[in-house]
Amino acid sequence: MTPRLTPDAQQAYKEVLETFPAILHPDKTARIDWLVGLQMAQKGVAEGDREMVITAARFISRPSSKARYDKMMGIGETRETVKTGYQTLEGYYRRPREVKRWPPVVAKTTKPASEMKILAFCASDRKEGNSDMLVSEAARGATDAGAALLDKIYLPDLNIKHCQNFYMQRDIVGVWEIDPDMAFNYCDYSCGFKGLKEKGTCTLDDDMPEVYEKIKAADAIIFGFPIINGWEGEVVTGFQERWQRYTGCVITDRAGEGRRAMVIGTWGTGDIQAYDNIVEVVINRLNTFKYNVVEAISACGFAGLLSGLDGDGKGIIKRYPEEMKKAYLAGRNLVTGEFGS
Ligand SMILES: Cc1cc2nc3c(=O)[nH]c(=O)nc-3n(C[C@H](O)[C@H](O)[C@H](O)COP(=O)(O)O)c2cc1C
Repeated sequence: MTPRLTPDAQQAYKEVLETFPAILHPDKTARIDWLVGLQMAQKGVAEGDREMVITAARFISRPSSKARYDKMMGIGETRETVKTGYQTLEGYYRRPREVKRWPPVVAKTTKPASEMKILAFCASDRKEGNSDMLVSEAARGATDAGAALLDKIYLPDLNIKHCQNFYMQRDIVGVWEIDPDMAFNYCDYSCGFKGLKEKGTCTLDDDMPEVYEKIKAADAIIFGFPIINGWEGEVVTGFQERWQRYTGCVITDRAGEGRRAMVIGTWGTGDIQAYDNIVEVVINRLNTFKYNVVEAISACGFAGLLSGLDGDGKGIIKRYPEEMKKAYLAGRNLVTGEFGS
């Protein structure tokens, strides 16, 4: 039911809806109406006000919309403060930089840290940038606890090709059962596929088979990436899609089962929640690979005049030891199962 709104609230509602594409309006309207109605019932009032509309809008929006709703409420960083970080070096160095360690999963490891091997991934194009430094710091936490670092893989350096197979294996097997002479192959790049128990090999000539051997050898992985245009970027999705399709296609014993993982997402805006939903996307993908993601880190503030670097061209986060320590402790927990503080 459409709630009754004050004129102010109606104006705010209009502004909120304008930020969404028209095709989404019916869905957004239904949710906002419901949430405003709940707030009215809770407060026992007959009309919804501006704040209720904005609260409802926050609830149904991506976390990166926070600045917009803060502005509507007249709170948060002013345009002026943000601008100085882009106009003067002094303002740039003063901009907030923050690392957030998500509440970790405290779960025992299956073996002692000294017997664990870790593999680190960095998806940023910038070596020694902020994602890279946080990944290294987490790896240092893990190796200080006794684990061995197998490798740090820079995803942009890999040759990862696009898998073009579009048959489901169980369908092909079904077809062969109906007609064994059916003359189409499972995939142009598949060699030796005979059925779900004998999957053969993938001959798409790229680095995935070699990387997968390392993934298999590692008890835990650290996966760091920067936010690009509001999402995790094609380097991450391209790699993870290939990983998923590769394992589904040729592997009978998948590597993720029982292994642990840590995800690190970094971005430019100074809002530490802004892209937690994207960090969640990456966590969920590793979860589908059967990893137990026990640690996650968000890190923000890597924008402005020097685009998140310092005067030496390195990730500015290295100047914030207290923030770096959070990645270190998370890396430790990855291989010890101890929360750390
Ligand atoms: C092409 C491009 C797009 C970006 N898009 C966003 C964005 O949508 N939101 C944001 O907060 N930061 C954005 N950033 C900033 C990066 O996420 C930020 O600088 C990140 O921490 C870089 O990581 P690195 O230091 O590991 O290279 C973008 C940076 C680049 C180069």
